[in-house]
Amino acid sequence: MERYNTLPDLAKAAAKLQETSFRDLFANDPDRVHRFSLSLPCIHADFSRQKIDRQVLDLLCEFAEQRQVAGFLQQMAEGKTVNSSQNRAALHMAARGHSNDLPRQVDPENWESANQRITDFVSGLDDGTVTGADNRRISTIVHIGIGGSELGPKTVYTALKRSVRQAIKLRFVANLDPACINDALSGLDPAATLIMVVSKSFTTLETLANAKIAQSWLQQHLGKPAGHKQIFAVTNNREKAISFGVPEQQVFDLPEEIGGRFSLWSSVGVSLAAALGIKTWRQLLDGARAMDRHVLQAPARENMPMLAALISFWNLNFLKLPGRAIIPYSERLAPLVSWAQQLLMESNGKSVQSDGSPAALCAAPIVFGDAGTNAQHAVFQALHQGKTPIPVDLIAVLRDRENNLEQHRQVLANMLGQASALMVGRDSEDPQKHFAGNRPSTTVLLDDLSAFALGKLLAFYEHETVILAHLCAINPFDQWGVELGKSLAATIEQRLSGAEEPKLDIATEAVLQRIKAKQSNE
Ligand code: F6P
Repeated sequence: MERYNTLPDLAKAAAKLQETSFRDLFANDPDRVHRFSLSLPCIHADFSRQKIDRQVLDLLCEFAEQRQVAGFLQQMAEGKTVNSSQNRAALHMAARGHSNDLPRQVDPENWESANQRITDFVSGLDDGTVTGADNRRISTIVHIGIGGSELGPKTVYTALKRSVRQAIKLRFVANLDPACINDALSGLDPAATLIMVVSKSFTTLETLANAKIAQSWLQQHLGKPAGHKQIFAVTNNREKAISFGVPEQQVFDLPEEIGGRFSLWSSVGVSLAAALGIKTWRQLLDGARAMDRHVLQAPARENMPMLAALISFWNLNFLKLPGRAIIPYSERLAPLVSWAQQLLMESNGKSVQSDGSPAALCAAPIVFGDAGTNAQHAVFQALHQGKTPIPVDLIAVLRDRENNLEQHRQVLANMLGQASALMVGRDSEDPQKHFAGNRPSTTVLLDDLSAFALGKLLAFYEHETVILAHLCAINPFDQWGVELGKSLAATIEQRLSGAEEPKLDIATEAVLQRIKAKQSNE
């Protein structure tokens, strides 16, 4: 990174801006709100409450040019190998695209047939050709998957489930704790339930353990044939799914080039398409596709994900702000926080660059949050008065879909009130009641919680994540950091089951002995 002369200039600019208040930034640039806001159909982002000015934006855009961000995005869209450690393309944009704008690497026939399979499955559920035992109509799909195999579909389902026709309901199971699958199966009619096991690798411990419970639940209630007929899989590992007991024709393929946290748009979303209907599913993909076109075509300064990424880059590396709160002022968008957390932290939480050399720059904020106004009663104390400012994304939906204009108005007022308090603060002679203000936030407004707008919002965060990674020379598409703990868990399980070896580190041994002693007394 030494060769980029913009970095020292950005560091100098940061020293100056640290000392500049928002009051001065707005006073010095009357056009500030307009200058740092972008409006696209359905979505508006106001970055004017971030600690940037024209000079910083110039430098950031110059750095983006030096890092050839636009070229990298183009390569990704064209299906070039952008995931270097796994020697793969990243095809999530292709997954939501149309056959006429597929990258050359993607076989249009495979692509068509994958889409057609989703459509056929959904029509089969609708017209009663896909049924449960006794030809009963399917009323629930239990979607079993974890991480990227759950968070996208769950976020979209929660957001849209009330506004769209729903002949089929979804229940999600991720956690290894059997409480999760027990709760999900509780009260369901086995003959009207499909199990959708979603795992790219089909080796994920949590998913397989839960899938086994679901499979035997079906078999216990309906006999072995139903255990087969009513279990489906989405995977890149067909063989494993089949040997698990999923009939071959009930396996949906997931290409290797679609990473878990970017996989919503692929067959990973099939249960979602079944619950919300094909029309809504397509609107979701179209929304994401519209954001793809924007990110590929808009110049840096008018490019919403690019600006978001440049500001994150600036906050993390120059203003030295390691956190990021994501606060959707919408109950239905609450799961967006976990989705974005995985997206940003699993993609970008890395200490080496794509070429294996030590990372000079930080690409992963510590993401947390909750739905506003709940978050106001939990984390906002620290956001307003904590020692380290935490940049906040405040997301609001402008159209009320709950038929409660008054309460919706209160929700919006709360969001605006918090954004203003964070920025302006309030002087008080009593230090306990003093609000320093000057805390950065971005306001994102969605016209409506439609499938199209939601697709745009999710693709916006995806592109932000990828651009941020590229600015820091990090590969966002692998996740080697999740391996070690998983393999240790397998070893420790043997020890918990009575094996004497292998020995672990002293601290782990101590806890292990305590657990064993407690369990042997019970
Ligand atoms: O957390 C690691 C991870 O590999 C994620 O990247 C992925 O989304 C999740 O586990 C689930 O993996 P799979 O789809 O292979 O079960």
